[in-house]
Amino acid sequence: MNIILLGAPGAGKGTQAVKIAEKYKIPHISTGDILRKNIKDGTPIGLKAKAYIDKGALVPDEVVIEIVKNRLNEADCKNGYLLDGFPRTVPQAVSLDEFAKIDIVFNIDIDLNILVDRLSGRRVCASCGATYHVTSYSSEICSQCNGNIIQRNDDMPETVRARLKTYTLQTQPLISYYADKNILVNIDGNTSIDKVFEDIVEVLKR
Ligand code: AP5
Ligand code: MG
Repeated sequence: MNIILLGAPGAGKGTQAVKIAEKYKIPHISTGDILRKNIKDGTPIGLKAKAYIDKGALVPDEVVIEIVKNRLNEADCKNGYLLDGFPRTVPQAVSLDEFAKIDIVFNIDIDLNILVDRLSGRRVCASCGATYHVTSYSSEICSQCNGNIIQRNDDMPETVRARLKTYTLQTQPLISYYADKNILVNIDGNTSIDKVFEDIVEVLKR
């Protein structure tokens, strides 16, 4: 099964992706995680991407398309994969259609007003990328790998607002793009992490 998770910044794509990938044993491919790894490693892609990410803008289409195209060619994607944060523009979706066959697109639908709280309270592990929220996790040490818990640079309120604007202008049109292909399923993202996951699993059972 080849799956896409769509949704605004903070909708819970990464949180759900980890659970789906674990249950269905498919690779979780997050362009955001791949770009952040490149920034951390100081690669040419990372150097290019950083300026865009820090201001809440999208990295140019050709850069992310190339990343995903190469990643989907790897052996572990043969039996399905989960795309988190890609595609994010109509040109990315059109390009993806040329090299992949997507079975289902989950749109995690969420009230945009709660996103600033979710994102400004998000904390991540600098080593393994595990995601937490300050309301439910106050330690500075990751429970999965003992790494340091940090706040993402782009989770500062100013950048969060820019990301939401970018989402509305450039990514939201993908909802109708996939609805027109009859592969879009809307999931209520305003409920608990477990309930969102249950709703996704229910659809995948069918
Ligand atoms: P990316 O890393 O993909 O960021 P994003 O889309 O902005 O999404 P987030 O990771 O912020 O949110 P999420 O939906 O994963 O939420 P999460 O599960 O963490 O991209 C970063 C940047 O990279 C982009 O801005 C862009 O510059 C660039 N980029 C990436 N892909 C690109 C592409 N294809 N093209 C161009 N540029 C690209 O949850 C958020 C918080 O809420 C957490 O604290 C979590 O614990 C909590 N939470 C989650 N679910 C729930 C729930 N149900 N109830 C309560 N709390 C919840
Ligand atoms: Mg994410």
